[in-house]
Amino acid sequence: MSTKILTCSFFLLTGVLSQHAGYTLTASAFVSVQRGLDVHIPCQFTYNKQHVNNFSTFYGYWFKSKEEPFQCASVPSQSKPDLLVTTNKEGQTIKESTKNRIHLDGDLEQGNCSFWINDAQLEDEGSYYFRVEQGNILKYSFYHKTLQVFMTGKHLLY
Ligand SMILES: *[C@@H]1O[C@H](CO)[C@@H](O)[C@H](O)[C@H]1NC(C)=O
Ligand SMILES: *[C@@H]1O[C@H](CO)[C@@H](O)[C@H](O)[C@H]1NC(C)=O
Repeated sequence: MSTKILTCSFFLLTGVLSQHAGYTLTASAFVSVQRGLDVHIPCQFTYNKQHVNNFSTFYGYWFKSKEEPFQCASVPSQSKPDLLVTTNKEGQTIKESTKNRIHLDGDLEQGNCSFWINDAQLEDEGSYYFRVEQGNILKYSFYHKTLQVFMTGKHLLY
């Protein structure tokens, strides 16, 4: 067993799952998208209501993991930061090629993390995870619940 997998299991068992009761995310684990088309990806999450600060905005973030699909994406890597592909928070650095193509469209407060991929591109293939922030306490990345995007129609010429 590789060190990586061991590190991964350790992180999952000790970190995310046990300490953050109330946080769940429901979305398809695998999404197939046809190249060049638009797709809406439904997603729902729950958060710990006790972490809510009533006067703050909810911010949602989708990250594309630098890890290859099917590998553990749970351990954030210092050397290869994950790429932010969309957020409703102003002033964030978003991956240039997805800036106007990928966007959140749900009500975050209602636990809606759905998003659109428009004009799907080959580079959109990969592993994604969601992060929610609200106020000072509610900050959570759903590392353990990744969504894999696959592209069909790869060989079509444009
Ligand atoms: C936040 O809002 C809920 C529901 O409206 C209320 O019960 C609670 O007391 C509020 N908390 C604070 C810190 O204002
Ligand atoms: C999430 O938001 C989208 C876009 O507004 C909407 O179409 C969808 O029905 C919402 N999902 C749920 C479960 O409310």
